[in-house]
Amino acid sequence: SQLLLINGPNLNLLGSREPEVYGRRTLADIESALSSAAARLGHQLSCFQSNHEGALVDRVQQARSEAVAFILINPGAYTHTSVALRDALLAVAIPFIEIHLSNVHARETFRKHSYLSDIALGVIAGCGALGYQLALQAAHERLSQT
Ligand code: DQA
Repeated sequence: SQLLLINGPNLNLLGSREPEVYGRRTLADIESALSSAAARLGHQLSCFQSNHEGALVDRVQQARSEAVAFILINPGAYTHTSVALRDALLAVAIPFIEIHLSNVHARETFRKHSYLSDIALGVIAGCGALGYQLALQAAHERLSQT
């Protein structure tokens, strides 16, 4: 199946950004490891990162015309603010898993609320870069069932 990985703002800085919180792996590392794992499972993964809310909304909308079967998304700080991203995911009605490298529940109070979690198939937080692999496995399981 066609899968889409979306990373939101500041995730382009992974590796150097607060490594004690977000780990030392770069986004390029994470994307290439996930693309290989997806290919091994018989899927094709497209990767997209943007610091701009509207660009993320556009990318989600585009996914519908590309017949994307599943979205893996780390929305970064837009998790806690973006009704627009929520509405885009509702509009395309593509199942998705929300990923956070850090445990958002063990940090500032404003990180506890997500505009996406209640419409996500699942949420993974606090497992670092492994969270992306776990989300891929969950997506694969789901797609094998249907
Ligand atoms: C994050 C958590 C968010 O609260 C934060 O704004 C991020 C990254 C994570 O992966 O842990 O940018 O989504």
